[in-house]
Amino acid sequence: MAEGKKPATIPPAGRVVMVSGANRGIGLAVARHLHGLGYRLSLGARDPAKLAEAVADLGDDVLQWRYDAEDRPTAAAWVAATAERFGKIDALVNNAGVLRSFPYDQPDEAQLDEMWAVNVKAPYFLSLAALPHLRETGQGRIVNILSNSGLRYAGGVPGYAMSKFAATALTHVLRYGAWEDGVRVCGLCPGAVDTDMSKTNAPFPGEKTDPNTLAVIVAMALSLPNSASIATMPINYALESVV
Ligand SMILES: NC(=O)c1ccc[n+]([C@@H]2O[C@H](COP(=O)([O-])OP(=O)(O)OC[C@H]3O[C@@H](n4cnc5c(N)ncnc54)[C@H](OP(=O)(O)O)[C@@H]3O)[C@@H](O)[C@H]2O)c1
Repeated sequence: MAEGKKPATIPPAGRVVMVSGANRGIGLAVARHLHGLGYRLSLGARDPAKLAEAVADLGDDVLQWRYDAEDRPTAAAWVAATAERFGKIDALVNNAGVLRSFPYDQPDEAQLDEMWAVNVKAPYFLSLAALPHLRETGQGRIVNILSNSGLRYAGGVPGYAMSKFAATALTHVLRYGAWEDGVRVCGLCPGAVDTDMSKTNAPFPGEKTDPNTLAVIVAMALSLPNSASIATMPINYALESVV
C-alpha cells in the first residue's frame, strides 16, 4: 500500500458490532464469523440463558444483553450498555425476525402485528437508538437482514412479505437519513437460508443458502468503505427471474 493511501476496506480489528437475534440461525453464524475476524461484539437475544449457552465459547470480551424486539425499552438499554462497555458503536446488524404464515384472504391479525413489531418497528427504533454512536465514528454501518420476500412477491407468505417490503423501505429511510454523517445502510435479501425458519415453513427445492455463507456477506458489507455502499443485495439459492 502506498504511503498515505487508505486501505481498500475497513479492517475489522477493534470495531464494535451489535447483532440482534444472535442466539441461533443467521444471527449466531454472523456473531461467530465476526468474532473470528476480530470484531468486538455486543449480542442481543430475548432469552439470555439461550444466548449464554450458544456463545459460551466466544469468551468474556463479548457483551451479552437481553434484547426483546417486542419490549421497546430493551433496545435503548442495550445500546447504552454497549456504548458504556466499549466506548463506541461502529455497526448494528438487525437480524432478529419472525415468519408467520396464513392465507392472504384469512389474515391472522395477531401474527400480522407480531411481524410488524419484530421485522419493522423493532429495527427502526433500535437503529434510531444506535445512530448517534454510529454517526460519531464517521463510518457507521447498519446491515438489515431483509429477504427476497421484501423485493418481490411470489406467493406463500403474504404477511411476512408485507413486513419485509416495509423493512426494505426502512433500509432506504435510514440510508437517506444518515448518509451525510458517513453512515451506510445495507439490506441483504436472501432466499431460503438453512435455519429453523426455513425448516418450519414450505419445502424449498434444492440446496438452501448456508447461514455461514450469509455471515461472510455480512462481514463484506461491514468492511466496505463509505465510497462503496450497497443499498440492497439479493442472494439467491435458486434461480429467480426478477431479483
Ligand atoms: N431462514 C431463511 O430462510 C431466511 C430467509 C430470508 C431472510 N431471513 C431473515 O433472517 C433473519 C434471521 O432468521 P433465521 O433464519 O436465523 O431465523 P431463526 O433461526 O428462526 O432465528 C430467528 C432469530 O430471531 C430472534 N427473534 C425472534 N423474535 C424475537 C424477538 N421478539 N426479540 C428478539 N429476538 C427475536 C430469535 O430468537 P428466539 O430464539 O428467542 O426465538 C432468533 O434468534 C430474520 O430477519 C429472517 O426474516 C431468513
